[in-house]
Amino acid sequence: MAGLTVTNISLASETDWPGFRNEARALLAKLIAPAEVAWHTPASGAADLFSDSDVSPTSPLVAAHSHGPINLVVPSSFVTLCETVILHNDPARFGLLYSLLWRLVHEPALRHDPLDAGRVKVQHMAQSVRRDMHKMKAFVRFRTVESGEGKPPLHVAWFEPDHHIVEAVAPFFMRRFTQMEWAILTPERSVHWDGERLHFGPGGERRHAPAPDAGEALWLTYYANIFNPARLKMAMMKKEMPVKYWHNLPEAELISGLAADAMARSGRMVEAAPTQPARRIVPVASETAPRVSNAPHEGVAGPEDVGRGVFAELTVAIHPAQALTALKKATDRCRECPIGEHATQSVFGEGPVHAALMVVGEQPGDQEDLRGRPFVGPAGRLFDQAIAQLGWPREQLYVTNAVKHFKFELRGKRRIHKTPTQREASACLHWLESEIEQVQPHALIALGATAAKALLGRPVAVTRERGQWHDGPRGRKVLVTLHPSALLRGDPAEHEQAYKAWLDDLALATDWLKHAV
Ligand code: URA
Repeated sequence: MAGLTVTNISLASETDWPGFRNEARALLAKLIAPAEVAWHTPASGAADLFSDSDVSPTSPLVAAHSHGPINLVVPSSFVTLCETVILHNDPARFGLLYSLLWRLVHEPALRHDPLDAGRVKVQHMAQSVRRDMHKMKAFVRFRTVESGEGKPPLHVAWFEPDHHIVEAVAPFFMRRFTQMEWAILTPERSVHWDGERLHFGPGGERRHAPAPDAGEALWLTYYANIFNPARLKMAMMKKEMPVKYWHNLPEAELISGLAADAMARSGRMVEAAPTQPARRIVPVASETAPRVSNAPHEGVAGPEDVGRGVFAELTVAIHPAQALTALKKATDRCRECPIGEHATQSVFGEGPVHAALMVVGEQPGDQEDLRGRPFVGPAGRLFDQAIAQLGWPREQLYVTNAVKHFKFELRGKRRIHKTPTQREASACLHWLESEIEQVQPHALIALGATAAKALLGRPVAVTRERGQWHDGPRGRKVLVTLHPSALLRGDPAEHEQAYKAWLDDLALATDWLKHAV
């Protein structure tokens, strides 16, 4: 810039939008042309070399100028554009934006020329920033770091954005993972959510991010299972999931293997007989179902049946206990329906990994929500009383719910149970299915209509169908009976009789416990 007086502007950070806006206003007011301005950020570090700057970096001038008033009104879309483009990694972005601003003020026709090279260039830059933000939202993968006894785990992710987008994207993760404590490390910036506030700090290195965990193994299993070879379009996939992100995406390790085998597997899929549509828990036809009363183990689907089919060879081995732990953590974050947003925590199933009998309730109640354990409130106490009378040790049962979060409405300070809607129960069903898949119970008890519908895949009239075994997931028998809350709510004059009838229903499952391994 020989022959020109250069005005040096130092901004507070790479993304100092308020600083840029104020300085640009001041420069315009002083009629300082774009060619006379040099923009600096702490990272570019050159501002001190020009200490004869005639504009203070920290005291923007908004004063009127002796050359007369200046029209500083620009379209609001331009302001939005600037806010985005400022996040671009091009060091020339401030100069480009100031130059456009200058021209908008001094060349009114520019507003009507969308094909102007300067306008097109910054539009492309904004597009690149938006794409980077979208990719960060899609491709951040958290890994869990245990923080020590009694403390919630920290979830850490490593990501390499192209632009200065960490501050801009962090609120998205805050809203999405409010309940978790998490951190995202990038080479330039880091952000940490402690459950209450976002903290921004300097960048890190990839080696600071944790190694793969059980949750990741589960995700890989899921990814391998949902991968549909018949729909593989490699070019499209690379467009959506650019190769440059692959080294940070655990599932990318599977892609080449899955893709290599895709043709052969598509062929097998075409030749294979049609499968049962819709529900993932497929009831087995009654003629192949086990006889319940005398021989609990006969005909029950064994582990070899699980994952049978074209995807079986892709399943990544993971111990059921690890899988259940990972599932439990994942339910906490689940927001597939609105219930989770208001609950204290998710309440996952509890019991031995290979319990012979799984008991399924509706959803956690107030006490369960607070304590994070199923059936520990009033309904749970009635259930405990019943099983004690039947001689069933609770520690031999796997006890869970169809819906994993507590749905309630506030009446004053009291949280009153609300029945989940069909849509909410359906959104939650896959968690229960995954639990069944891991525990492999020989039989299940459905307590109430919500559990019965989840297990049988159809509406169930509990009063009519109670005390009977029905065909449930993968040939497992499902005993339908009342929910203990129904007994608690019922007519006190009939309590004793109703309780006795309920015990009679439950007693039908005693054989399964006797045969427990
Ligand atoms: N009701 C349920 O269905 N489940 C619980 O865990 C508690 C009450």
